[in-house]
Amino acid sequence: MTLYFGSDHAGRELKDILLSHAKAKGISAIDLGTDSDLSVDYPDYARKVGESVLASPGAYGILVCGTGIGMSIAANKIRGIRAALLYNEETARLAHQHNNANIIVFGGREVAPKDATSWLDAFLSATFEGGRHGRRIEKVSQIEQENHGTTT
Ligand code: RB5
Repeated sequence: MTLYFGSDHAGRELKDILLSHAKAKGISAIDLGTDSDLSVDYPDYARKVGESVLASPGAYGILVCGTGIGMSIAANKIRGIRAALLYNEETARLAHQHNNANIIVFGGREVAPKDATSWLDAFLSATFEGGRHGRRIEKVSQIEQENHGTTT
């Protein structure tokens, strides 16, 4: 399994902590930036991580911005991405079990590092349950297919 990590400046510190945590567990973890505190635009990193996840079957993405909201919005614009903003350990587990999320998102200014690392572990330990949840994800894909090209 490979994990792709990305953040803007507001999420860089937590992204680096999560990256080190994954590496320490022996997981293949790839850092797609940013690598400094200079102000950058979160959609650029959501795109890099989203496209990398789609190009690498079985991979997951981890995105961090200040709130987690901008990264969630941007990543979910990519067809095939299901990005879940986590806010506790249960949502981390359910994002995998029920939503089959392929990207998880953290608010770097909103969550303590020790919580974020345990949410990452909870997500990775869980598995997708399928069944009725699979049917619902299919319906989400239909929305995506039928509204491709729509702008607001
Ligand atoms: C950057 O200041 C901040 O707006 C960004 O990290 C994120 O929270 C956006 O949703």
